Amino acid sequence: MFQFSLYLHKCLISVATVVVSFGISGFAQAQFWNGLPSDLPRDVSIDLVQAPSSNQILSGNATTGLSYTGTELPVNTGALVPIRNSYLGPTIRAWQGYNLSVHFVNQIGAPSITHWHGLDVPASMDGHPEAAIPSGSVFNYSFKVLNRAGTYWYHPHPDMATATQVYAGLAGFLIVHDRAEQKLNLPSGQFDVPLCIQDATFDSGNQRIYNPSMMPGFFGSTILVNGQANYIHSSVTKVYRLRLLNGSVSRIYKLAFSDGTPMVAIGTDGGLLDKPKTYPYIILSPGERVEVWADFRNKTVGSQITLQSLAFSSNGGQGAAVNIMKFAINRAVSGARRFAEDLTNREPYRLIDAININNPKIYAITTSGMDFLLNGGLFGMNTVAPNEIAKINTLEVISVTNTGTSMVMPHPIHFHGRQFQMLDRTVLPANLASWNTIKDGLMMTGWKDTFLIMPGETVRILVRHGNYPGKFMYHCHNLHHEDMGMMRNFRLDP
Ligand code: C2O
Ligand code: CU
Ligand code: CU
Repeated sequence: MFQFSLYLHKCLISVATVVVSFGISGFAQAQFWNGLPSDLPRDVSIDLVQAPSSNQILSGNATTGLSYTGTELPVNTGALVPIRNSYLGPTIRAWQGYNLSVHFVNQIGAPSITHWHGLDVPASMDGHPEAAIPSGSVFNYSFKVLNRAGTYWYHPHPDMATATQVYAGLAGFLIVHDRAEQKLNLPSGQFDVPLCIQDATFDSGNQRIYNPSMMPGFFGSTILVNGQANYIHSSVTKVYRLRLLNGSVSRIYKLAFSDGTPMVAIGTDGGLLDKPKTYPYIILSPGERVEVWADFRNKTVGSQITLQSLAFSSNGGQGAAVNIMKFAINRAVSGARRFAEDLTNREPYRLIDAININNPKIYAITTSGMDFLLNGGLFGMNTVAPNEIAKINTLEVISVTNTGTSMVMPHPIHFHGRQFQMLDRTVLPANLASWNTIKDGLMMTGWKDTFLIMPGETVRILVRHGNYPGKFMYHCHNLHHEDMGMMRNFRLDP
């Protein structure tokens, strides 16, 4: 299905020319989405290149790394929105029901492949590590966007090098729109704000250091938002739709506003909730997304609100309090925007319809020496255990357990290709005290593709397997764990 071809230098030159010509007109204005263009929906076709880059992240020396750059073909219609002053790739805007074609070029000097996190795509389009292409090659993606409106993302997925490539800067948002969302008249344009939270450690010359600890993973000393340290969003007294993505290697955030503004969630990994739901704080582990209303209507001009990660108790290097970014209220704008009380409905799955209601698939997280095992094993390119096979379109209960006795750590577990429902969580009495410091921020509503499992927990989910047969992945989205082999194949048969 996928193609190898020698990368032609001529092609790179023509790409660069197109980008430069945007620079004068469309580029600057495309920094914000200008509402939902009326000529959409339509198919999107892009060139997406991974290559070395250099960015001003801190003051002083620029930081070298890797970035995605994109060009829409044959003309710029606004489907790619660059994030200003950032190593992050352009935000791709796609429409449900239409085609996304990506001419992907690897120029990073190492094998890579791109995965569309959260999207339901054919196995050959999913960015499985076995599809990784050498540097200098091209992979052509083309698939129909089936997912509902929501905040998805793209990043590399090569075996044993996902953490380092994402950490070097390779990631971007992929935002899907649909007609149900369009009817809601949600905040758009500059009031619809994607925010990718990451952490990094820099040496005295401002270059990234990657020094994960053996088991817990990597915790950077600087928090970055959309590729910048000390990120400040200049805001007005209105309601914003914030799309928060945890693009960090290992760090879990306990998100809250410094002034007590509640966290009002309107969406999660798989799109909008039925109704907004208020949390005292929201837990966001690597790979997860949450959309929140940030209501600044009653804020004073001149004030600043900090988005923080509050302290929590956990082993595995997690839980220190950190400041993430600031919203600076710079201008008063009148005109009330009504909160949508009803968002979208999607018929929930019913447990009673599961084919294995009394016999859940059980995937245990365990350790063996210095390895984290998932379902009893490490990743093998072609390894599939009997309980990792299902029929397409079936509804199953899956139970993930994190109840081992040594090196029990939090793990964000991600399944490719489907959005599922959270059923329940149970926690061992010995872990209850720590768990109580995060429990009120664990989202159990909406549609998820990644969930955090804490030490001592058993988490049950209800999954409708996708339409496409083939080999997909499920894995820990602590990217250090993933690269250590805490990843498995899941095979769907027709
Ligand atoms: Cu976001 Cu398999 O990953
Ligand atoms: Cu994924
Ligand atoms: Cu893990």
